[in-house]
Amino acid sequence: MRIGWWRALVLGAGMIAGCVPGHGQMTAEQDRARLLGLLGLKESEMRARPDGNPKSPHATNYDLAKANVYTKLPDPLVFKDGTAVKNAEDWMRRKKEIRADFDKEILGRTPASLPEVKWQVVSTKEEKYGGVDVVTKRLAGQVGEGAGAVQIDLLLTTPAKTKGPVPVLMELAFENDFKRATSGPLEGYVPQPWGVDGKLVVQRGWGFAILNPVSVQKDDGSGLTSGIIGYVNHGKPRGVEDWGALKAWAWGAHEALRYFETDKAVDAKQVGLAGHSRFGKAVLVTMAYYPEFAIGYSSSSGEGGAKLYRHIYGETIANLCGPSLYHWFDGEFLRYGGPLNAGDLPVDNHELIALSAPRPLFIAGGSDAGDGYAEPNGDAWADTHGMFLAEVAAGPVYKLMGEKDLGTTEFPKIGTTVSSGALAFQQHEGGHLAEPSWPAFLEFAGRYLKTVK
Ligand code: GCU
Repeated sequence: MRIGWWRALVLGAGMIAGCVPGHGQMTAEQDRARLLGLLGLKESEMRARPDGNPKSPHATNYDLAKANVYTKLPDPLVFKDGTAVKNAEDWMRRKKEIRADFDKEILGRTPASLPEVKWQVVSTKEEKYGGVDVVTKRLAGQVGEGAGAVQIDLLLTTPAKTKGPVPVLMELAFENDFKRATSGPLEGYVPQPWGVDGKLVVQRGWGFAILNPVSVQKDDGSGLTSGIIGYVNHGKPRGVEDWGALKAWAWGAHEALRYFETDKAVDAKQVGLAGHSRFGKAVLVTMAYYPEFAIGYSSSSGEGGAKLYRHIYGETIANLCGPSLYHWFDGEFLRYGGPLNAGDLPVDNHELIALSAPRPLFIAGGSDAGDGYAEPNGDAWADTHGMFLAEVAAGPVYKLMGEKDLGTTEFPKIGTTVSSGALAFQQHEGGHLAEPSWPAFLEFAGRYLKTVK
């Protein structure tokens, strides 16, 4: 399979971590095989993972004309018993059905009772960021003590001179970016292009936060007996319906929001989330399950994120079910990479998006053509068209909830934002990156987040 250097790096690091388990710990391969066993599945029943070599018998499909294998999507506005969802009250009930399907078949169930997170301000400093006087707090969210304890890493920067609490945008960042942002004065921190620029946020008078999701849950199947998932399971391996890393990251983001509710610098009713790729998926999951988040920027989330599972282009479920990625989901999801396929899912990702309604949501992806940066086929792996189709299909729910839909069903010209209300979409120049659509998202967010002057 042809993969970009950055992707090889991420997957490679995961594999190395998966090969050197600690005492009594399973590798990702062993844990995945254990789950397949619990499901009564054999490795030979799993579909081949599409690969980037066009000559392979399992070549990834990069032909849009061949992507619509399934013509029908599940209807978010029809209850399971066939009756129509007619008003906002009905939607509140229908949401529960949709969430229950995502819980069982895809993401796993977040435990009903979870331990309290004790937040501590580790350090506070006054500094400049983007030329703005800010106060930066390094925070640690502690769960438990001793072996198995979890410590959540969070950084919060708010403008120093405000008359009241400010809106905050929180990035779910790749660990490397979190480390770089916390290793010296923020003014010197330049995010990678798959990260987002907090300077532009504080210059708007808002606060900027960075959460390190892997401090909540490791990004590797070998880590499922530790982190918050392992903590609540007392270090034992997951059952097939237990939550995966995406749900755990979403829980961590919500716990950060709960800290913000206690911090006088933050207007916790105006907290937004941003994330790229796997963390773009996590943005959608967080928005879907935690209505306290006011707005979201989901960048290049692709398969398992905004893209329709039923749009067979670029990455597919079979890829997500491989040993380096399966830990994002629950065990049950593995069935869809084997005997079942995308068309068998009771839900699809237009419904994940719809669970954000009527809150504002900006979905972005890169160009499909070579970006000259990471990969010859740009962001085609993430299937920006499939993400657009899902956002269009979420429109009727936004309308039912008194908002507008995307306002078009026509894929927009590259670099243009389409939005007629709370849903927005952009395909940007450049490939699998978050940074190119970030200024457009901030413009969009400016319509919703209000700074106290
Ligand atoms: C892999 C994976 C994608 C994911 C990406 C990332 O490429 O196949 O689904 O979005 O990693 O998170 O960087």
